[in-house]
Amino acid sequence: MNHDTDQIARRLKGKDEIRILFVCLGNICRSPAAHGVMQAIVDAEGCADRWHIDSAGTGDYHTGDLPDKRMRIHARRRGYELIHRARQVRERDFDDFDLIIPMDASNERNLRRLAPTPDAEAKIVPMAAWIDKASRYDHVPDPYYEGSEGFELVLDLLENGCRRLFDALKN
Ligand code: 4NP
Repeated sequence: MNHDTDQIARRLKGKDEIRILFVCLGNICRSPAAHGVMQAIVDAEGCADRWHIDSAGTGDYHTGDLPDKRMRIHARRRGYELIHRARQVRERDFDDFDLIIPMDASNERNLRRLAPTPDAEAKIVPMAAWIDKASRYDHVPDPYYEGSEGFELVLDLLENGCRRLFDALKN
């Protein structure tokens, strides 16, 4: 945990509802996978009524699409069914969510540009902040032009980060 994650955890711990938005570029690979992994954790922990999970992309190229087929296949092997339909992030998301989690520095820059107020901007904490430092990844790499190992790496990082995020904010 670092300064940002500590601060957010203090602010959100004990809240009746926690609303989290995962964000990547296309909303067809990394963020819908994060969404599926996090949803599976809160379902398994029996607290889906407290946690509201969603995902979006900074780009609009894939609006309405299911996640990339390769991402769905790799996720399904681990027990996650990814059924989200891609949508673009919008300014209103800063009202609708408590925590907005970009996958990489480019997603983070785009979100900071979109944030309407300093309070809104303070809701942005990158995925890497939740991932064990031992992974040595400071972002979740875009798997779109990679092979199978790129998709497996995304799932490894997300399973680690989502579990640590859940543990940090659970009551
Ligand atoms: P994502 O991956 O941001 O993890 O959903 C990508 C999906 C599509 C593209 C780039 C990255 N694209 O260029 O279409």
